[in-house]
Amino acid sequence: MSIAGIKGMNDILPGEVETWQFLEKTAREVFRTYGFSEIRVPVVEKTELFCRSIGETTDIVEKEMYSFEDRSGNSISLRPEGTAPVMRALVQHKLYNLDSINKLYYSGPMFRYERPQKGRYRQFHQLGAEVVGVDDPKVDAQVLAMLDQFFQEAGIADVELQINSLGCPECRPAYRDLLVAYLEVRLESLCDDCKRRYRTNPLRALDCKSTGCKAATAEAPSVLAHLCCGCDTHFGKVRGYLDGMNIPYAVNDRMVRGLDYYTKTTFEMVTTRLGSQNAVAAGGRYDGLVKQIGGPALSGIGFAMGLERLALLKGDEAVVRDRPEIFLAGLGEAASDRSFLLMQELQRQGLRAEMDFEGRSLKSQMRRADKLGARYVLILGEDELSRGGAELRDMDAATQEDVQLDQLLSVMIERCGLVRRDKA
Ligand code: HAM
Repeated sequence: MSIAGIKGMNDILPGEVETWQFLEKTAREVFRTYGFSEIRVPVVEKTELFCRSIGETTDIVEKEMYSFEDRSGNSISLRPEGTAPVMRALVQHKLYNLDSINKLYYSGPMFRYERPQKGRYRQFHQLGAEVVGVDDPKVDAQVLAMLDQFFQEAGIADVELQINSLGCPECRPAYRDLLVAYLEVRLESLCDDCKRRYRTNPLRALDCKSTGCKAATAEAPSVLAHLCCGCDTHFGKVRGYLDGMNIPYAVNDRMVRGLDYYTKTTFEMVTTRLGSQNAVAAGGRYDGLVKQIGGPALSGIGFAMGLERLALLKGDEAVVRDRPEIFLAGLGEAASDRSFLLMQELQRQGLRAEMDFEGRSLKSQMRRADKLGARYVLILGEDELSRGGAELRDMDAATQEDVQLDQLLSVMIERCGLVRRDKA
């Protein structure tokens, strides 16, 4: 019996991977223009890092982490998100001493033991960006502008930017108490999860999908009406900058993030095209996080986009198929051997070249060239070989011409406008 992969952990196959590469390339280009540098952190961290940062009472820490003991008995976890590991690295390497503002981006697999469904997996991939060191609302607006630009450049429409503010340690406790009191008299209507955590994590009831919780919280006090002066001014400025940059957004005062480290601005890019997994990107400000994990009191803000969800939205449209520049159809052993050497020469110059290794007929080699989408086909038989030439067929224009084999490389370079990148 063959061995299948693990449930909720997917292979990304040729044909799909081109969309991923397009998304990653677009993100790198956009992030670069905003001055972000890449950081790569390990896939596993000490479990304690996630408990301390994401929060002990969150779904992620309570029930979704892949945690286990290593052979020395230390509790380690597959990372369920990227912000905590990146902040851990920032503190460990004291990156804040090198610059007062650190703009970092990362990409890679994350792991959460959730119930798999369309758009929700146990191994998924995030592309994330974080800015540490400045709490100016301009930074919030810039991060949102970068996110907006990514969606535009990636050609992903049908998304809406929703923003909220979750307050800070000064104003949130009072709002929390208010919400606990509000929920306390409506406990009977809440789902079991919200009932259990209404004291420890009352905000979660606001974005709970259960009908009972939705109805019970319909009249709940709004967090935005209970912000302290500092948070209120900050949020107003963020909105003002977004307006000034003509970035569309909606305020959603019921948006609650599933991670405890957020303060002030939070946001999500939502879509109606992915059912209940409607957040394609999400993030916010986390001004206490760096200190909480043992670093200095530095503010931070960032987001992560889910690559699977982006790829589902993008589909295969508009991602250019990677076609071979040339397919060498050699007929007979000598022609096949010569084709092989020619192919190597072309590849060394950076041209994508393919050939047949199975001694197939011309007809079936042409069929294969067509299937691969080759732009040109070189037809090389015994006769052509003896006169040092071959027929070069332009598959798009449906024309053909004779070329000398010793000229093939320069003809192809001229046609395809390609030279090896290191010689360019
Ligand atoms: P998050 O909302 O937990 O935030 O995840 C961010 C994004 O990752 C989601 O909007 C979604 O697109 C994707 N995602 C999350 N879970 C899954 C899953 N099981 N399957 C597929 N995609 C998923 C964070 O992780 C924060 N670290 C974001 C952040 C960065 N906040 C500040 N900086």
